[in-house]
Amino acid sequence: MAKASAFFASLLLLSSLSLVSLSEAKDSVHVEKGLSWTFYKKSCPKVESIVRKQLKKVFKDDIGQAAGLLRLHFHDCFVQGCDASVLLDGSASGPSEQDAPPNLSLRARAFEIIDDLRDRVHKECGRVVSCADIVAIAARDSVVLSGGPDYDVPLGRRDGLTFATRNATVANLPAPSSNTSVLLTSLATKNFDATDVVALSGGHTIGISHCNSFTDRLYPTQDPTMDKTFANDLKETCPAKDTNNTVVLDIRSPDAFDNKYYVDLMNRQGLFTSDQDLYTDKRTRDIVKAFAVNQTLFFEEFVKSMLKMGQLSVLTGKQGEIRANCSVRNPDNKKFLASVVEEDVVEEAWAELR
Ligand code: HEM
Ligand SMILES: *[C@@H]1O[C@H](CO)[C@@H](O)[C@H](O)[C@H]1NC(C)=O
Ligand SMILES: *[C@@H]1O[C@H](CO)[C@@H](O)[C@H](O)[C@H]1NC(C)=O
Ligand SMILES: *[C@@H]1O[C@H](CO)[C@@H](O)[C@H](O)[C@H]1NC(C)=O
Ligand SMILES: *[C@@H]1O[C@H](CO)[C@@H](O)[C@H](O)[C@H]1NC(C)=O
Ligand SMILES: *[C@@H]1O[C@H](CO)[C@@H](O)[C@H](O)[C@H]1NC(C)=O
Ligand SMILES: *[C@@H]1O[C@H](CO)[C@@H](O)[C@H](O)[C@H]1NC(C)=O
Repeated sequence: MAKASAFFASLLLLSSLSLVSLSEAKDSVHVEKGLSWTFYKKSCPKVESIVRKQLKKVFKDDIGQAAGLLRLHFHDCFVQGCDASVLLDGSASGPSEQDAPPNLSLRARAFEIIDDLRDRVHKECGRVVSCADIVAIAARDSVVLSGGPDYDVPLGRRDGLTFATRNATVANLPAPSSNTSVLLTSLATKNFDATDVVALSGGHTIGISHCNSFTDRLYPTQDPTMDKTFANDLKETCPAKDTNNTVVLDIRSPDAFDNKYYVDLMNRQGLFTSDQDLYTDKRTRDIVKAFAVNQTLFFEEFVKSMLKMGQLSVLTGKQGEIRANCSVRNPDNKKFLASVVEEDVVEEAWAELR
């Protein structure tokens, strides 16, 4: 435990150092219409400090939850935009099971953590902060509290009224068996270039994977681009295709948000085809190398790409709603929509309802 807190303390120190250089870039960042850097300044000025403080506690017990929260934001944004649709409880909204989004091994705990944060924030400010914004803030804090770069997040997202179908989810999230061509084509549809693809894949510097996400690289034939010792170690944890075990995504520093993931790739120790092929493919190889030798550069590019990802097809203004429970739509949606005009009006409306 003492070791864990020392590790944690050093991560906090690291992350406070990297804030300075990155905040300078803010002026050049594109902000979607309806989002702003100061969205909750009047209506919920403490939202970010509430989230940060609570996540510090959560991660002190289990730093692995940071990875779960980062991945949650990715899945939310890639499928139907950053509208917290990923949080909606499929069965509760009443579709056939076939239409319900697939459970892509997102951590159950991540859903609980988000709704707990939502509860804390709404207790302080009323129902003014969206679940989608809380997911975006929590993802940023997961990066920061794991030792990665700090950055401001534009806020003002609203929560979607529908969840993505199974087909839309499958169509929008690339499979780990994808090669670089598939990734570049797929992410280009969301306006990401090769640098974005390599930078975003750096999210795999923390977290874990289940065996069945990569055992196609081990059985029946071993992927020749995989380091042999690394492959043997993976086979030990995953003796068959569908074993229920997990391995870390970044063998050099599994819990630290750093650039070691790219060093793994240069050593043929990337876990998924989608990771390793970034080093094999000529179009992305030099970007991998550049990030492997320069963590500052990786952090800068990661922040740029995260800000892009975090603004994909956002709902703003009067669109969507502010959910009272992140896993279900508001039952009183019509009434609420009618009362929403601007931030201040939302505040007044809720003061009246309370
Ligand atoms: C580029 C395409 C991507 C593919 C193909 C991909 C695929 C995967 C897969 C298969 C897993 C393991 C799931 C499991 O077996 O449990 C995973 C985990 C993870 N991914 Fe990705 N991913 C991609 C992009 C991203 C992005 C953009 C981010 C965030 C910026 C991200 C963050 C994570 C994290 C943090 C985990 C670990 C989750 C945990 O420990 O619970 N991934 N990814
Ligand atoms: C996935 O399954 C777990 C465990 O059954 C559940 O708690 C979690 O909410 C599910 N996630 C999604 C996105 O349905
Ligand atoms: C979803 O995809 C499956 C398989 O590709 C297809 O059979 C089905 O009709 C699709 N469903 C919808 C609602 O598009
Ligand atoms: C990448 O994967 C796609 C789909 O599996 C395949 O058609 C293509 O030939 C692959 N490209 C390369 C360069 O391996
Ligand atoms: C897989 O592991 C989870 C917990 O890690 C456990 O709840 C589940 O029962 C396991 N499934 C199988 C098929 O062993
Ligand atoms: C690393 O990248 C940063 C940010 O782009 C740059 O300022 C710095 O000069 C680079 N360092 C080296 C050693 O190339
Ligand atoms: C939120 O909704 C879910 C799904 O209906 C329910 O299980 C849960 O208890 C609700 N949470 C709160 C805090 O009311």
